[in-house]
Amino acid sequence: MRKNIIAGNWKMNKTFDEASELSRLIARDYADCTSVDIVLCPSFTSIKAVSDIVSETQIQIGAQNFSHEDDGAFTGEISYTMLKDLFVKYVILGHSERREFFGETDDLINKKLIKALDKNLKPIVCVGESLNERENGVTKDIIKNQIDSCLLNIPSEKFSEIIIAYEPVWAIGTGKTATAEQAQDVHSFIRQRINDQFGSDAANIVRIQYGGSMKASNAKELLTQPDIDGGLIGGASLDAQSFGEIVKIAIG
Ligand code: 13P
Repeated sequence: MRKNIIAGNWKMNKTFDEASELSRLIARDYADCTSVDIVLCPSFTSIKAVSDIVSETQIQIGAQNFSHEDDGAFTGEISYTMLKDLFVKYVILGHSERREFFGETDDLINKKLIKALDKNLKPIVCVGESLNERENGVTKDIIKNQIDSCLLNIPSEKFSEIIIAYEPVWAIGTGKTATAEQAQDVHSFIRQRINDQFGSDAANIVRIQYGGSMKASNAKELLTQPDIDGGLIGGASLDAQSFGEIVKIAIG
């Protein structure tokens, strides 16, 4: 049985004070939650504040990105040591916004994934097709390529630490959600691909989140699909009540 993981990707939202307030409200209601993994991913400037606020709770912190380099002359980058210093446990890799606006490639995401696993940060690896790709009927080709390239050379025994997030690009921030059937179809395809490449233990243990306009009104049908193990939530994670409602549904 895989535990649901509900992660809030706050993206480039919330000032220091706003992030502190949001995390305080979530911690007030879900501090002791162990039946679902709750992860908050604030911007870098708020990680310290949020990390302090949730330090005595079951809630974990994720970063939205990091560098595959250890340290040195890489202006503007953030290293794993900086994250671990602030008790960050998860890191989102290859979000479609980073692919689209900052030129991140599968090859770079693979380097970051290898570094994250080596340094005991749990990676949330994002994959997903664009609207054009879905309309052209190549969704599974795209997903297969992303999975194969991003997960290149990853040892099978690491899949208990890896989270895959299926985020159809056309569903992100648009209010359009994949139907539960569409999402389940791709999730089961991803699990099958991992089965073929890395074996059944890896496929059974890896958690696959759905992301793309998930909210309280559609969370139940998505989260009850057999291959959907949680959500990576954008917009609805910016409000404690909306996020809390999704967590409650994931708890069941
Ligand atoms: P929305 O929930 O705002 O569609 O964003 C999803 C997402 O990109 C999470 O990483």
